[in-house]
Amino acid sequence: MEELLEKLRKKIKETRAGGGAKELEKQKSSGKKTARERIDLLLDKESFHELDPFVTSRCQDFGMDRRKFPGDGVVSGSGRIDGRLVFLVSQDFTIMGGTLGEMQANKIAACQDLAIKNRRPFIQILDSGGARIQEGVLALNGYGHIFRRNSLASGLIPQISIMAGPTAGGAVYSPALTDFVFMVEGIGRMFITGPEVIKQVTGEEVSFEELGGARIHNEVSGVAHFALPTEEECFSYVRKLLSFLPANCYELPPVSRSPQDQEAPDENIEALIPVSSEEVYDIKEVIHRIVDHQDFLEVQAFFAPNAVIGLARLAGKVVGIVANQPLIMAGVLDIDSSDKIARFVRFCDAFNIPIINLVDVPGYLPGTDQEHKGIIRHGAKILYAYSEATVPKISLILRKAFGGAYIALCSQGMGFDYILAYPTASIAVMGAEGAVNILFRKEIREAVDSEKFRREKEKEYQEKFSHPYYAASYGLLNAIIDPRHTRQELIRVLEDLSAKKEERASKKHGIPPC
Ligand code: HXC
Repeated sequence: MEELLEKLRKKIKETRAGGGAKELEKQKSSGKKTARERIDLLLDKESFHELDPFVTSRCQDFGMDRRKFPGDGVVSGSGRIDGRLVFLVSQDFTIMGGTLGEMQANKIAACQDLAIKNRRPFIQILDSGGARIQEGVLALNGYGHIFRRNSLASGLIPQISIMAGPTAGGAVYSPALTDFVFMVEGIGRMFITGPEVIKQVTGEEVSFEELGGARIHNEVSGVAHFALPTEEECFSYVRKLLSFLPANCYELPPVSRSPQDQEAPDENIEALIPVSSEEVYDIKEVIHRIVDHQDFLEVQAFFAPNAVIGLARLAGKVVGIVANQPLIMAGVLDIDSSDKIARFVRFCDAFNIPIINLVDVPGYLPGTDQEHKGIIRHGAKILYAYSEATVPKISLILRKAFGGAYIALCSQGMGFDYILAYPTASIAVMGAEGAVNILFRKEIREAVDSEKFRREKEKEYQEKFSHPYYAASYGLLNAIIDPRHTRQELIRVLEDLSAKKEERASKKHGIPPC
């Protein structure tokens, strides 16, 4: 027996050696942690339970018969984060560049299956050259197994991807199918084809970083949701994100063990929001004043910053916040912010997280650029997402709520459960200037003093719509509140809606605009 145990110990030691000392050194010198160090940093101490460590590639072609590594370039298993079970994989770049062949794919898929069957979150730490060229169609088919499981797990369990190295080719689509993509600055990169292929095909020269670094995917493409300067900070942020999420769609998000009490009215909140809608302010300052412990985990902070989305707690309970940001493009809704809001709303709904909208929005962005790029279908995503959502949906109108953006974010017709407004709220089809130009085009042209006439009509329009009482008189607002009581009011409304049940007709699935 001792002999057999010695053999087992030797085999286990081999699995820990990755691609060998030289490759491990290379990994370190390129500023990256090893696959196993990453797992240790992410999970609770000594909670990792490894799966399939002895799996190796079956490929015999292109010299692969001489390059067999136990684990086949990925470490997989289960572990705990704040005591809660998760399943995870961590690619090992020291083994053939973390590339994915048939057996690596089987390992990842087996781990996904366990996450799905046990209804527990799935996390993947990626560092890979993509499909292992030597394994041809078996590698490509392997991605098929992973993508299908990502799709089937969507909305069932939270799925999180961490880009901690290159993720090339097929390796990028699994993250794109997951709920949150984290990128470590300077090392995390995502691209379908690398700079060399791009140069060959199009003649274009681009660096890895400019092609698919953390900045590009967080600011420009919208593929990623978070960018963190170091791996340590990244893993700690992933842990924080998970603290807001339930393990699956059948559970409620964890309630905080240290909720903040409903304290006295906030005398300072009013000063943050100028009465004149011409003046701007930072909605994030308002959010911080409202939520527990000023703790707001912003999602996609750098993409479409004219909308702000993220997770927070109110009296200990998790909420999803969707807000317009008057500081950027007056908080207007455009293509990117529509995509950003719609996806977040669907995420919150899937995982039983009530949604609170903080509305101050002049409408959908006009212009040929937006029209031709499809603001109609992108804007429709928000309508679809809110209509589909059955979690409590609360809207607070701070100032402007105009046109299509009013319908999308705070109209009773769209099925919001509770709509509140500040006395500064103004609800209209459009702003006074635009409305008067349309309604009185002929009269303005023919008036003796066109400017005076226009001003009078604008004043008339504003008197009718630049307050919340017109909408309230039709029952389209449920309460007009003193801004100083915002936090208390929202907590009360959340309590009123805490047992909300809303059924939908059974069907195979809807067909959201995309
Ligand atoms: C096989 C690969 C590989 C691949 C890298 N390697 N990519 N082996 N298949 N796809 C190997 C390298 O040959 C090398 O092996 C080891 O991994 C480390 O790679 P290096 O190039 O030395 O490392 P580095 O300089 O850090 O560059 C990493 C890299 C680069 C940026 C990932 O290797 C690269 O550009 N690889 C190709 C990426 C790519 O185009 N993938 C797409 C595959 S097609 P040795 O033995 O020397 O250590 C695909 C199909 C799906 O995925 C497409 C759907 C859209």
